[in-house]
Amino acid sequence: MSESDILVSGATGRTGGAAIDELVAMGKRVRAYLRSDDERAAALRRRGVDIAVGDFTDIDDIRAAMEGIKSAYFLHPIAPGIISAAAYFAQAAKEAGVSAIVNMSQISARRESTSHAAQDHWISERVFDWSGVATTHLRPTFFADWLAYPHFAKEIWAKKKIEFPFGNGRHAPISTDDQGRVIAHLLANPAGHEGKIYTLHGPVEMNHTEIAAAMSEVLGAEITYAPTSIEEFKRKMEDLYRFPPFLVQHLVEVAQNYREGIFAGTNDVVEKITGTPALSVPAFIAKYRGAFV
Ligand SMILES: NC(=O)c1ccc[n+]([C@@H]2O[C@H](COP(=O)([O-])OP(=O)(O)OC[C@H]3O[C@@H](n4cnc5c(N)ncnc54)[C@H](OP(=O)(O)O)[C@@H]3O)[C@@H](O)[C@H]2O)c1
Repeated sequence: MSESDILVSGATGRTGGAAIDELVAMGKRVRAYLRSDDERAAALRRRGVDIAVGDFTDIDDIRAAMEGIKSAYFLHPIAPGIISAAAYFAQAAKEAGVSAIVNMSQISARRESTSHAAQDHWISERVFDWSGVATTHLRPTFFADWLAYPHFAKEIWAKKKIEFPFGNGRHAPISTDDQGRVIAHLLANPAGHEGKIYTLHGPVEMNHTEIAAAMSEVLGAEITYAPTSIEEFKRKMEDLYRFPPFLVQHLVEVAQNYREGIFAGTNDVVEKITGTPALSVPAFIAKYRGAFV
């Protein structure tokens, strides 16, 4: 196919896209796994990225994409199908002699998770472990990007309120840009990270009152946190955002997990792996202030 030896799935998404940016900046030859050969594929080709086209539902597509690959990033969205996708990805990696996988999971991934997506993440981690292909599991807390996701950012800015169902729980938001850098470094230098599970946090743990204050400071407008019930948030996800049922089920369950402290904590894994500290919430908001218009 080409001399690329790093494969990135989810390449049109946030963490995969950020990983590609970093790998290209590092001068690595990268192959992106995309669902269609569209304008986004053309844009990646113009940046020197090779393209393999396929879906997670077809092991032969995945196997072809793995030819000549040494390390690969597995990214599946919050959607049904992750366990079979992980099994296909692991088997294809094994057949192709891939020596390292970086697997996107999440901090709430546990055997006992009530979120179907979080439990499926946990089982997918085990599938990679059983495969024998050395895998590094990433378990991030909630992304800082929540604040700038178009439907949330639009609503926060219009109402000058953050209406999330997170009570007084805390987390240290982590940007997808920082995760992309972690993924890129692990793919480029996997030695020593085999079989590790890394929880990923931003630098400062905050509740949403503190997050709102930080946003107010950077954006120059008073934004407050107006906590909602989980039931109200569920109705909004169904009726206003029109999120698919699998995602709604996940977000309802993890909202409760968040209140119970499952998403809390901070660490310096980003800095240890990449040499550069993770973005704080004010730095993230300043970088993405264009989302608040
Ligand atoms: N958001 C959070 O706070 C949070 C916290 C912890 C962990 N996570 C984890 O992060 C992951 C999401 O990461 P992200 O934000 O980088 O994702 P994202 O931006 O939503 O991107 C999803 C990517 O997956 C691709 N994709 C979807 N279905 C596919 C299929 N059947 N076959 C091949 N590719 C497919 C999409 O391609 P198209 O462009 O073609 O659709 C896109 O490139 C999830 O696993 C989630 O559990 C999220």
